[in-house]
Amino acid sequence: MRALEVTSFGAPDVLRLVERPDPRPRSGTVRVRIHATAVNPVDWWVRRGTMADRTPHLSFPFTLGFDIAGTVLDSADGFTAGQRVVGLYPWFVEGTGQGTNSEIIHADPRWLAPLPDAVDWATAATVPLNSLTARQSLDLLGLAPGATVLITGASGAVGSFAAQLAVADGAEVLAVASSGDEAYVSSLGVEHVLSRDEPHRLVEAIRKATPHGVDRVFDAALIGTPLLGAVRDGGGFVSAVEAVAPAPERGVTVVGVHAKPNSAQLADVIGRVAARDLHTRVAEVLPIAQGAQAHRRVEEGGFRGKLVLTF
Ligand SMILES: NC(=O)c1ccc[n+]([C@@H]2O[C@H](COP(=O)([O-])OP(=O)(O)OC[C@H]3O[C@@H](n4cnc5c(N)ncnc54)[C@H](OP(=O)(O)O)[C@@H]3O)[C@@H](O)[C@H]2O)c1
Repeated sequence: MRALEVTSFGAPDVLRLVERPDPRPRSGTVRVRIHATAVNPVDWWVRRGTMADRTPHLSFPFTLGFDIAGTVLDSADGFTAGQRVVGLYPWFVEGTGQGTNSEIIHADPRWLAPLPDAVDWATAATVPLNSLTARQSLDLLGLAPGATVLITGASGAVGSFAAQLAVADGAEVLAVASSGDEAYVSSLGVEHVLSRDEPHRLVEAIRKATPHGVDRVFDAALIGTPLLGAVRDGGGFVSAVEAVAPAPERGVTVVGVHAKPNSAQLADVIGRVAARDLHTRVAEVLPIAQGAQAHRRVEEGGFRGKLVLTF
């Protein structure tokens, strides 16, 4: 099988495509042949060495990758060989450095959900990490129906899932779109689309429309402390990255999300993607052999949607 290895921390050139022996069946897991996996911000942060403190036992070479879109190779635990699946590989928790940038992986069946035929591989690869981060962030916020929630980074993968799921949950959503992307965010069913702006101007605009502040904030754009002024006293704030979560003030609860595999939540989301009730964007698809190029392009930014690698 092929594997895109990280050979040392550094620039995209540290990525190397190699042949490795196929993994053998292992009890308690099913092997999954990966067809597509997304490149997420965390992948290049890990590759650069920015997150080395979260993987103290990792050794080189290792493979990155959280998103599973592939075919099950072993019949076990309710899955049959040949079945299409999606899943979230809990890369940090596993700590083994055997992520979905490997063509065949061992997966705990609890990480997986069946993948409907209506969803192609590349689209499926954009769903697990991003939608579960969104779902679990909204759950942490504990949105009551009709509550107001501000979602930043709504043009991004996590933020756009969060905006759509919050609308479906019955919240009143204010979403911050990237410049020129307002129409897309509006098409997701969001009632109040705000254009990306300096945080203090964003907070000013929100306080003008909602003098007491919004009930909840999900900060998928990592704006952090300057955004705290948008939330009402005693409200809630979830950051997509705990390290940049602001210090709490005025009784506001502040937490960071850590996305975890959840088969039931993933089955629900992928079903809604198949039914076209939820939308997700694939910006570009590249073969795994062009992994270094994919990292370079994602780091340059300016993408609308995910860059997906295929085997
Ligand atoms: N904790 C977890 O378990 C977990 C899991 C998954 C992801 N995450 C984190 O969640 C965040 C979002 O991930 P993603 O995959 O959705 O990334 P993404 O697709 O790159 O989207 C990020 C979005 O935020 C926007 N943005 C960045 N800075 C902004 C600012 N100052 N003001 C307004 N908008 C801004 C970007 O807009 P432009 O393109 O215009 O810059 C982009 O649309 C990342 O930081 C990621 O690491 C955390």
